[in-house]
Amino acid sequence: MDPSNVFRLTGKVAVVTGAGSGIGRASAGVLAAAGARVVVADLDLAGAEETVADIKEEGGEAVARRVDVADPAAMGALVDETVSGLGRLDVLVNNAGIMIRRPLAEVPPDEFDRILSVNLKSVLYGSQAAARVMRPGSSIVNTLSTIIDFATAGTGSYAAAKKGGEALTRTFAVELGPRGIRVNGVAPGWTDTGITRQRHVDDAGEFQQSGFDQLAGRMAAAAPLGTVAEAIDSAYAVLYLASDASRCVTGHVIRVNGGASMA
Ligand SMILES: NC(=O)c1ccc[n+]([C@@H]2O[C@H](COP(=O)([O-])OP(=O)(O)OC[C@H]3O[C@@H](n4cnc5c(N)ncnc54)[C@H](O)[C@@H]3O)[C@@H](O)[C@H]2O)c1
Repeated sequence: MDPSNVFRLTGKVAVVTGAGSGIGRASAGVLAAAGARVVVADLDLAGAEETVADIKEEGGEAVARRVDVADPAAMGALVDETVSGLGRLDVLVNNAGIMIRRPLAEVPPDEFDRILSVNLKSVLYGSQAAARVMRPGSSIVNTLSTIIDFATAGTGSYAAAKKGGEALTRTFAVELGPRGIRVNGVAPGWTDTGITRQRHVDDAGEFQQSGFDQLAGRMAAAAPLGTVAEAIDSAYAVLYLASDASRCVTGHVIRVNGGASMA
């Protein structure tokens, strides 16, 4: 018996949102390397096409699609096109996300709406669309955040969305479990990606490496393992939850954060 076989996704089709960068790009790459045909979906089509080029260079199969996950009709169309073009949908990774830092007392309504739409409502719309076509054995994975365990200044809107995503994960797990569809979350800790880098771009548009490195050092020091996560670490958790290796796991959130929070 070769235990690695249970992680194989040969013959399966996966959609990964926000796969034009960071954790989504790493997840799409790992799922493709495991044998899945991957739909690389992102608002940023150029980023998605780069991911597809990387996957093809490694011998994998992928297509790029532009989608705004905040648009329920677009998420429905993405799922429908996937099934009509590739025949099925086995794995959906609701990964796209944005962060806008601002104290809660100053958050304007349109900004709050946007954060909830991209980070939270997208999980509902994507999962609803997927649930219409998924067969038993399928898996939905939602990218949450370690912020579900903490309160930090300036991240309240984002935390509300991610905590809501955890609630959707658990309730979908209960509701879709009888149909053999599993729903789980991955909660990355601080990871070097577009979201964390954007905070260190100054008013002139210059990336401030030293401030970024200092924050990364503080984040690493706060974790028992003494390190921050890389995008690939969350991607491996996505692979586990997407594959039959986790066939008895649903409604669960895997924290990929060096032990920075535990629950
Ligand atoms: N990097 C971290 O420290 C960290 C920690 C915890 C959770 N996360 C979560 O990981 C996920 C991936 O983020 P990342 O860290 O890889 O950042 P990233 O900025 O590198 O990637 C996010 C991707 O989402 C895409 N996107 C944004 N809005 C979209 C929309 N409306 N429709 C479709 N695509 C959209 C972006 O174009 C980008 O390619 C997010 O849900 C984020 O909240 C990140």
